[in-house]
Amino acid sequence: MAKAPVRVAVTGAAGQIGYALLFRIASGEMLGKDQPVILQMLELPMDKAQAALKGVMMELEDCAFPLLAGMIGTSDPRVAFKDAQQALLVGAKPRGPGMERKDLLLENAKIFTEQGKAIDEVAARDLKLIVVGNPANTNALITMNTAKSLPQTAFTSMMRLDHNRAISQLATRTQASVTDVKNMVVWGNHSPTMYPDIRFATVAGKAAPALVNDEAWYKNEYIPKVGKRGAAIIEARGLSSAASAANAAIDHMRDWNMGTNGAWVTMGVVSDGSYGIPEGMIYGMPCTCSGGKWEVVKGLEIDAFSREKMDFTLKELTEERDGVKHLFA
Ligand code: NAD
Ligand code: LMR
Repeated sequence: MAKAPVRVAVTGAAGQIGYALLFRIASGEMLGKDQPVILQMLELPMDKAQAALKGVMMELEDCAFPLLAGMIGTSDPRVAFKDAQQALLVGAKPRGPGMERKDLLLENAKIFTEQGKAIDEVAARDLKLIVVGNPANTNALITMNTAKSLPQTAFTSMMRLDHNRAISQLATRTQASVTDVKNMVVWGNHSPTMYPDIRFATVAGKAAPALVNDEAWYKNEYIPKVGKRGAAIIEARGLSSAASAANAAIDHMRDWNMGTNGAWVTMGVVSDGSYGIPEGMIYGMPCTCSGGKWEVVKGLEIDAFSREKMDFTLKELTEERDGVKHLFA
């Protein structure tokens, strides 16, 4: 018997990530090739945004996706999030050349307060939500604290692009395939302060630090390269990453829904106090997923270098939180 369709809300649907994301969701890459979906797409009310959204919907129609069971295009968050079981919050103002992600903080905070309220009122109670729009961790924090009637575990931020970047750079350095790299972790904020930690990583079964055997490269090249990759893409393209961001969002939601079979993935999740990260912060952590739930990998040893890096990125997140907490406190 055919499965009942799942309602998937996507905000910023006519933007560049939206354009790289929606067609993949509709083709079954996120929830499976046997799972029909109803896309509930939110855009700004301005004529230009709504016209662009209409164009995207026309193209979705033209694909005749067998799994696309329905579409809604709207500028009303209460319509977009109504009964949504999956939500991808992409819509936000992206940064341009020379801007840091935190420059966007207050401008984007308003969006996530408004959407959090709508989610609180109308989303399905088993919602799974990812925030992609920057600053992603703090926007997820705002949404979680605004939509108080839902469990905190429903709210995550996207660290998967950082995780994928970290894997790819390590595979290149070790001349291995990306599929050989396991147990990567990227701690903290989706910002240049993030800490890509290869201490537990293996490459084709061998310990990554020993294989790399070059601490200067790791500390002075690898860590900053992964952390500043977003800026390097903006510099090169004149636009922020879109296809790789959409790909990471699909990876994140697919793994959360379908499980990771014990593999580690990095997700921005609400802290339960593990690893000295205060409860309630949204922080990049190593997770495994099964049965539709994420779980933090526990018991990893934190050495002095890691402690310093993890506290540094936490400090930035704390400052971001302090800049917006009046919105939900
Ligand atoms: P974009 O400007 O192309 O698209 C954003 C879309 O969101 C626009 O169409 C805009 O009209 C819409 N929008 C703005 N405010 C909205 C609102 N309140 N409700 C609904 N829609 C709204 O930007 P993009 O390149 O698609 O990037 C989107 C966001 O994702 C940016 O914040 C960007 O910085 C972020 N991003 C995050 C990651 C990550 O790894 N977490 C990676 C890449 C980009
Ligand atoms: C990225 O990491 O590519 C995005 O967060 C875009 C940005 O602003 O860096």
